[in-house]
Amino acid sequence: QAADALKSIARRQDLKAQVERTPALNGLLRRAAARYVAGDSREDGIEAGRRLLGQEYAISLEYIGENTQDAEACEAAAEELAALVGELWRLGMAARVSFDLSHIGLAADDELAVAQLLGLARRARGTGIELFVSMEESAKTDRILAVYKRAAAEEPGIGITLQAYLNRTPGDLAGLEGIGGPVRIVKGAYREPEEAAIGRSEALNERYLSLVEAALAQGRRVSVATHDETLIEAVAARGWIGQGLEFELLYGIRPDLAGRLKAIGYPVRVYITYGDEWYLYLCHRIAEFPPNLYRAIADIAGG
Ligand code: FDA
Repeated sequence: QAADALKSIARRQDLKAQVERTPALNGLLRRAAARYVAGDSREDGIEAGRRLLGQEYAISLEYIGENTQDAEACEAAAEELAALVGELWRLGMAARVSFDLSHIGLAADDELAVAQLLGLARRARGTGIELFVSMEESAKTDRILAVYKRAAAEEPGIGITLQAYLNRTPGDLAGLEGIGGPVRIVKGAYREPEEAAIGRSEALNERYLSLVEAALAQGRRVSVATHDETLIEAVAARGWIGQGLEFELLYGIRPDLAGRLKAIGYPVRVYITYGDEWYLYLCHRIAEFPPNLYRAIADIAGG
């Protein structure tokens, strides 16, 4: 319930405006967000990416945003992503660019989302920059998959994120047979109806592993996107590393674990975010793992 409350706080535009109008509060929360968000600007994201590439991590970059309803704002978000792709290419940086479809059109209209996704894919074609669709609440899963399938039929390199906690996901993965590119498997970050999903448990980890196995069997590259060490060890024990599998962790979360996995020689990608919606992202990370609230207070006090 606390997690739900935080997520609704994140989406309250009046609170966000209040934070923006109150420089002292804004400054304090920014200090806490700095652990998870590279900065406000594209340059900040690219700079963090350059640093991590220098340390031999692969990188993903996300321009933070979701549920954008206004068509002009969707257009602006897609333009920012296209500029990001162009800049990464100009700098010769290998990267993955991730985004919510609801940031670039899905919240307004499915056709807009398809057009934006295809436009971005054409921009990314031949650059070596990989586009990756994030997965949102289950109320949107059908539409996200439908938009993805239409775009991937024309631009097969686009990747998609699948959530192991949803009971429907094994079927969704089977339904992608022969379509599209790499997959990222995550546990899932939203509060879902009881009949739709399972909670954090051994059963969830078992399902996670069977999804990884099924995706590899489809010949896909797979990102195991988790900070769960037990799950990571189970993946490693199955001997799947070296078959197009990598680990992917969020920037600022368990950097010790990312470093250890890299030192063993496993491929590790770090998922970096940037943008002025850092407040939304901070609330999401605290909701996902409430002890982060204490960390945030310590970051504020110590900064
Ligand atoms: P779990 O929640 O079981 O946590 C295991 C351990 O990891 C915890 O005990 C703690 O030690 C550590 N940990 C986890 N979260 C932490 C946090 N926020 N702060 C500090 N420590 C933490 N979700 C989604 O629904 N759609 C999506 O598109 C994506 N995309 C995505 C990309 C990438 C690269 C990652 C890593 C994650 C996502 N997620 C996501 C989020 C994902 O669904 C999930 O909520 C988080 O990864 C947390 O779950 P874990 O798998 O880490 O395990």
